[in-house]
This record gives sequence, C-alpha cells and structure tokens, in this order.
Amino acid sequence: MHYLPDAGRYQQMEYRRCGRSGLKLPAISLGLWHNFGDSTLLENSRNLLRHAFDRGITHFDLANNYGPPPGSAEENFGRILREDFYAYRDELIISSKAGYTMWDGPYGDWGSRKYLVSSLDQSLKRMGLEYVDIFYHHRPDPETPLEETMGALDHLVRQGKALYAAISNYPADLAQQAIAILRDLGTPCLIHQPKYSMFERTPEDGLLEVLNQGGVGSIAFSPLAGGMLTDRYLQGVPQDSRAASGSRFLNSDQLTEEKMAKVRQLNQLAADRGQKLSQMALAWVLRGDRVTSVLIGASKTSQIDDAVEMLANRQFSEQELEQIDAILV
Ligand SMILES: NC(=O)c1ccc[n+]([C@@H]2O[C@H](COP(=O)([O-])OP(=O)(O)OC[C@H]3O[C@@H](n4cnc5c(N)ncnc54)[C@H](OP(=O)(O)O)[C@@H]3O)[C@@H](O)[C@H]2O)c1
Repeated sequence: MHYLPDAGRYQQMEYRRCGRSGLKLPAISLGLWHNFGDSTLLENSRNLLRHAFDRGITHFDLANNYGPPPGSAEENFGRILREDFYAYRDELIISSKAGYTMWDGPYGDWGSRKYLVSSLDQSLKRMGLEYVDIFYHHRPDPETPLEETMGALDHLVRQGKALYAAISNYPADLAQQAIAILRDLGTPCLIHQPKYSMFERTPEDGLLEVLNQGGVGSIAFSPLAGGMLTDRYLQGVPQDSRAASGSRFLNSDQLTEEKMAKVRQLNQLAADRGQKLSQMALAWVLRGDRVTSVLIGASKTSQIDDAVEMLANRQFSEQELEQIDAILV
C-alpha cells in the first residue's frame, strides 16, 4: 500500500543540536543492526521504518556489515527507501559505517583508506544513494595511522559521498586525537557513537567530557543493553526475543541472577515514576543533555512507541538518580 507519512510527525519528537554543528538529530534514532537483514520478513522491516518516521524519527543508522548476511540490511533498506521514502530523502539522516570485517583479504577490514573508500562505494550502491549523511569509522584500528583513517573520512566528505564524518567505539584519548585531526583537515567530527547505558557507563570516564569540549555530538548505541534494560526478560526468555535468537551479543548466559536482580529493582523504580523500565533507561541516558540521541533497536512497532512516549517523562530528581546509582554498583 502506498505510504503517506503521518502529518503530525514533527510535533511528537524533540530535535537536538548535534554538538556545535548545524545538524539537529531526533532525541530517539533507530538502528538497523537487527531485524533488517534477509532473515527478517521485508514487510516487518518496512513497518518498523514507516512507524518510526510517522513518530518523528528522522535518523536511521546502518553499517556495511548489518544483516545477516552482511550488507543485506543496507540492501533491504535501499529497497524500502525507493518504494516508500523516495519523496522524503531530504527529511532523513542516513548513516553508514566501515571498520569491522566485511570482505575477504586484507582490504575489507579495519581502517585503511583503501577499505573506507571502497566500502562506502559499496554501501551507496546497496542503498541506491548518492551520498550518506553521516559516515563513521566503526572502530579504532591499532595499526593504521589515525591520520590515514581520518584523512579518508575527510576525502569522502570532500567528494560529496558523505555530508559529515564520525567515529564510533573510540576511547576518550583516541577520540580526542581523531577530533583534532579532523578539525585541522577542515572536516569537523560531527558525532561519536559509543555504547552507553545503565549497564555500560564507560563513556562517563572522560569520553563525554572530550566530546562536550570538542563540540562533538554523541549518539548512544544499545541504550537498552540489547533489551536487558526492559521488561522483556522479567518472566524468563520469550521465544521471539533477541536472547533466544542465538545472538552472540545477548544470550541467556548474560541474563545472570545478579543482573536480573538489578533489572527488577530498576523496574520497580520505573513503575514508581509511572513509566516502563525501557523508558526510564532511555531517559537516564539523555539526562543532563550530554547525549544528543539514543540509538535504539526495535523488533516491534510498540517498542518504538514506548521510546517516543518516554519523552513526556524524562526528568529525574537527585534522589532518583542516587537510587539508580545505588542499584547499579
Ligand atoms: N557502533 C557500533 O559498534 C554499534 C554496535 C551495536 C549497535 N549499534 C547501533 O545501535 C543500534 C541499537 O542497538 P541495540 O539494538 O543493541 O539497542 P537496544 O535499544 O539496547 O536494544 C534493542 C532491543 O531491545 C528490545 N526492546 C526495545 N524496546 C523495547 C521495549 N520497549 N520493551 C521491551 N523490549 C524492547 C528489542 O529486542 P527484541 O528483539 O528482544 O524484541 C530490541 O531489538 C543498532 O541497530 C545499531 O544501529 C552500533
């Protein structure tokens, strides 16, 4: 059926300036790591994208290797883009990345200029795009000089294949160096994409400060710890959940009694605030306005609704923040 987006979509979302750039991002962005590969029915993926856009989510995050198989999320996204979003390309912020293993041999991995330039060309073909809005180096490369990797990002922006350059998974010290190199090249780093949630607080040890001082935005990936910070696993492991899917990133071994005890306490605190745990977990990442956007995953449209409805209740009292800290130690 022909897709006509909800006319009220921009009234439901908050758009936040990304660092010291001209770009605003939705407070909630949607990632296509899961549920967009060939193992998911295309119609499910299509519904998720339509629903997200209807609710004001303008930013879709991809990477060369998302699937399975690798590349298929970009292909499926490209098809849905052509069929449903063709008229709305300029209302969307589309990102991709290269940095993890993508193809055989020495040129399909890590951070060489060779890998980044050819990978982005492949991504553009798969998605049927002339340019992506944001292109990331996906993870630091211990061997390639940072100048080469950042030089490749600068080159791709100057070629018009990406509008903005970005980094992901860089620790604070390397992020600081990368930001300085990109600034000197005249292509400022737009945003950093770290893993950040109640269960993964490493960015608080310097990274968020580096980004703030550098005028670089941040988008927190896996803000729900892959689903652990929700009510999904309170009554066991549902058949249709990520933990039951054989994921090596989230499986029942990780749902330890210790973790689940914390989840139950957090769930009670969220109930006391009149919201779901997933909503409190997202609001917590956005607290203090140090993070530009939370980058969620979703397997159901109702999960997108939960996230957007969080925006109505995202303030914390000092006491609530202390209670959360006490649960998380
Ligand atoms: N840069 C990187 O290295 C990197 C790495 C990982 C991810 N990412 C990006 O971050 C995005 C998000 O990652 P993620 O999927 O791990 O994020 P997440 O938001 O922590 O987890 C998403 C999962 O949580 C469950 N969920 C979401 N909302 C829920 C709700 N309201 N109630 C119950 N369960 C809910 C769903 O799992 P079920 O499937 O069980 O329903 C959903 O697939 C990715 O798509 C990708 O774009 C980037």
